[in-house]
Amino acid sequence: MQKILIEGGHLLNGKVRVNGAKNSAVALLPAALMADSDVAIEGLPNISDVYTLGDLLEEIGGKVSWDGQTVHIDPSNMVSMPLPNGKVKKLRASYYFMGAMLGKFKQAVIGLPGGCHLGPRPIDQHIKGFEALGAEVTNEQGAIYLRANELHGARIYLDVVSVGATINIMLAAVKAKGKTIIENAAKEPEIIDVATLLTNMGAKIKGVGTDVIRIEGVPTLNGCQHVIIPDRIEAGTYAITAAAQGNEVIIDNVIPQHLESVLAKLREMGVTIEEGDEQLYISPKDPLRSVDVKTLVYPGFPTDLQQPFTTLLTKAANTGVVTDTIYSARLKHIDELRRMNASIKVQGGSAIVTGPVQLEGARVTASDLRAGASLVIAGLMANGVTEITGIEHIDRGYEKITDKLNSLGANVWREEMNEQEIEQFQES
Ligand code: EPU
Repeated sequence: MQKILIEGGHLLNGKVRVNGAKNSAVALLPAALMADSDVAIEGLPNISDVYTLGDLLEEIGGKVSWDGQTVHIDPSNMVSMPLPNGKVKKLRASYYFMGAMLGKFKQAVIGLPGGCHLGPRPIDQHIKGFEALGAEVTNEQGAIYLRANELHGARIYLDVVSVGATINIMLAAVKAKGKTIIENAAKEPEIIDVATLLTNMGAKIKGVGTDVIRIEGVPTLNGCQHVIIPDRIEAGTYAITAAAQGNEVIIDNVIPQHLESVLAKLREMGVTIEEGDEQLYISPKDPLRSVDVKTLVYPGFPTDLQQPFTTLLTKAANTGVVTDTIYSARLKHIDELRRMNASIKVQGGSAIVTGPVQLEGARVTASDLRAGASLVIAGLMANGVTEITGIEHIDRGYEKITDKLNSLGANVWREEMNEQEIEQFQES
């Protein structure tokens, strides 16, 4: 078990390249199993979530091979086997095996998904969609059983705008007989990316990126090639890092339009940002001004950048209020930031951040992926050395984060934890 150490205070300069989008990758891999022949996906990030999903594809008979940055998935020998627990528990996105296997095999048994603990994360809308398409869904001893004689198109209104439910229903519907309409669908770029892959495989999907998606079922899906979109959350994390501790930082392989809400907030704070075709040029100016942030579904401010943004606000003058309307309990980073001298109060589910304060290095724990990112940024800003445990969360979503930060001039490294530290970590 490792920890990350950061000697804070170094100004960051230079260029950092963003990887393929984690939250696309984790849906593209299960989607690939629906094809009859080889699917090649270029640009998948080298992160543990991708490897876990690759292992799950192999557990059901798929062949997964890497050729540089391209992953080939050969689904020709896949069978509908139960995926009850084990690796399924490691990440939330294993729930995409439900839609994909139901669509392809008309049956699936999948353990309840794990993932970051951000408060309640129900999957009732996924199940509502599967049932509308004709599946019988039961929860037996911690696993979801899905069975259908035949899937048929349906009109499905999502009561909650959900990324996962939109993608999962789309996966099951592309091979259902007839027409499916998903209303109040989510519009995140990752959903468009998955629909692009499915369309390349021969699916008929219209309206993706709006809140009404229309799907005409097809009997078979073929293999294809696909290039993944860049990770807007990784790009946003580096943009916030550059605003917090940068001099001049270029973020490469970005679709700037995917980050408009975040860039608008950074500009409100006084950060200078220029947009190239696929780059962001970020140069902050002291002092930064505080802003209020409310997370919303896309194209609003993403919940996945709320925690990193909270860290940035510790440096800004006056008070900023951060409210997460998607996951109101996504606040576990706050106690850790307080250990580092941040002045943050939690009131009525909002974090009230008063600045500017000088953060101080401390021993802190990442409780989830984006909490981890917020602590890394705090460590870069702090006086002295910060030690972060729980870094397996960070490695689920950020490829080579220590190398990338060091290439910008940071001093970040990994060390093995000793037995006492592991014990303390496990008790915490
Ligand atoms: N919700 C329901 N019922 C459902 C589904 C969702 O009530 O059946 C609620 C959730 O509890 C939440 C809201 O709807 O309050 C939105 O959840 P959504 O389904 O959109 O989230 P998700 O698909 O489970 C994805 C990302 C998350 C990201 C959210 C919101 C993946 C694998 N995960 O989760 O990413 O925070 O959308 O944008 O795509 C991360 O990358 O750190 C991460 C947690």
